[in-house]
Parts: sequence; C-alpha cells; structure tokens
Amino acid sequence: GTTLGASAAEKGRYFGTAVAAYKLSDATYVGILNREFTMVTPENEMKWDATEPTQGQFTYSSADRIVSHAQANGMRVRGHALAWHSQQPGWAQNLSGAALRQAMVNHITQVATHYQGKIYAWDVVNEAYADSGGGRRDSNLQRTGDDWIEVAFRTARAADPGAKLCYNDYNTDNWTWAKTQGVYNMVKDFKARGVPIDCVGFQSHFNSGSPYPSNYRTTLQNFADLGVDVQITELDIEGSGSTQATTYGNVVRDCLAVARCTGITVWGIRDSDSWRASGTPLLFDAGGNKKPAYTAVLTEL
Ligand code: XIL
Repeated sequence: GTTLGASAAEKGRYFGTAVAAYKLSDATYVGILNREFTMVTPENEMKWDATEPTQGQFTYSSADRIVSHAQANGMRVRGHALAWHSQQPGWAQNLSGAALRQAMVNHITQVATHYQGKIYAWDVVNEAYADSGGGRRDSNLQRTGDDWIEVAFRTARAADPGAKLCYNDYNTDNWTWAKTQGVYNMVKDFKARGVPIDCVGFQSHFNSGSPYPSNYRTTLQNFADLGVDVQITELDIEGSGSTQATTYGNVVRDCLAVARCTGITVWGIRDSDSWRASGTPLLFDAGGNKKPAYTAVLTEL
C-alpha cells in the first residue's frame, strides 16, 4: 500500500491517530488524516471532564464531531476513556465512596450508551496501576474499592455489547517491569473469572525514561496468550532521524509478529500536534511532511 491505513489493512490491521476536534478545520491536518488513517481516538473529547462537566449533564458535541468525521471518511473509532483518575470534572474529584462509585457507573452507562454501536473498542479503564511495585495506583476511584475496575467493565459491556472493552496503560511495555506483571495478573484473573475484557492497550509513549524495550514483542505475545487482543494505543517515540525511524519500524514489526495485535495508533499526526511540550515524536513534521519515521513504518507494514 501507499498509505499507513491501506498497508495496515493488507495485514488485517488498522492504523490510527489521536484527533483533536478543534483541528478538524485545519486543511493540512485533515488532508493527512483522511489520506493515511483508518482509526481515530478523540484525544480529549470523550474524557470525563469533557463529557460530563456538570454532574448528570452530558455534552457530546466535540466528540460527536470526531465520530461524524470518522464515519463520513470510513474510519473507525477507539473510545477513550470511560474511567480514569485524571481529567475528571471538579465535581467528581470532590466525590468519594458510594457516591463516586455510583457516579462512575452512571457516567459509563450514559457515555457508552450514547455511542452504542459506533465504537470499535473502548478504553474502559485507563492507568489504574502504580508506576512501581506492581499494585494499584492510589486514586479516588481506587479508594471506592478494589472491584471498581471489574464493575467498570461489566457496566460498559451492558451499555454497548458490541464494543471491544480494553484496559489501557503506560509503562507496561517492558515484560520485566513490576507494573507490567501487575496488569498481566489482573487480566489473567479477569479472564479466569469471566469479567468481560477483550483487549489490552499499550500506550507506548517511548522516551529516555521508558524506552522501547527489546522484549516488547514478548510482552504483547504474553498478554495475547491470555485470550485478549492487544493494541498499541498512543504511540510516540522521542528522538529524530534514523534512530527514531528504526524504533518505529521495530514497533510495527513486533505488532505484526503477534497475531492478536490488531492495530497501532499514534498519539497525534504532526510533531506540532504532540502532547509532549518539546521534541519531535511523531511521523510528520510541523509542515505535514513525511519524516524518516513515516517511511520506516510504511516499509515494515
Ligand atoms: C493527553 C492529551 O494528549 C493532552 O492534550 C491532554 O492535555 C492530556 O492528556 N495518556 C492518556 C492520554 O491516556 O489521554 C493522554 O492524553 C496522554 C497520556
């Protein structure tokens, strides 16, 4: 193929990007989006603070614009994210206990119902594990009880039975890291007990502190062997030039080597679209030109 999306499709995969609704009026941005990508993830527009800024009052206009754009252009949508400790509205940050648990359940039900039938996969729970030690991250949601994650998954399944339901996290790429093992054990337990989980998302924000690990393919395969799909959900790689390109190529090769690695999403289109304050972590430069990293990805696909 001559584009990321077409080449990935030849391998039975999708190639996606994070999309910001306010950039859909940028012609360069939309031109690349429509040409190259077959999956979109709203970068912020489906988060709790965006969709329920006031308790019980739901605002979907920005997220709906992205979903409409995707549907009109033959792209699918990853929903992101239903339950997360970050980017909560102020009212939720101030809740705890049963009131917070009930608010989480209602939020998941409302949002997943609004988008029922339109989402390929939901990041049901995002970033619930601590950076070290292999246990849960402390958060207001975690303090409602250890079962908050499985409750979130059961609630999402009831609201949109056709969507794949994912657990998504970062720094779970290196098989030897305790955080990876913690998430792996949770997924294993969920599969053993029939908690409805279909996929695990690896954010894969690679940089000097958490570099692309040589055992990445092993990690993806070990999770897949639990009976879930794996997806690379927020890929960006610090660096530039041929070094960055080589790492992007390695990531693509690892995904293609794992039968249940169903697709790759990069976290933005141009370097200037990146959430990273500095650096050049994406596939297109600020002018929208293809970088060596783009060529490496296309070559591996
Ligand atoms: C980031 C967005 O890219 C930024 O625009 C926003 O200010 C903060 O969130 N992990 C995630 C994503 O799951 O939702 C985050 O997105 C990046 C880290």
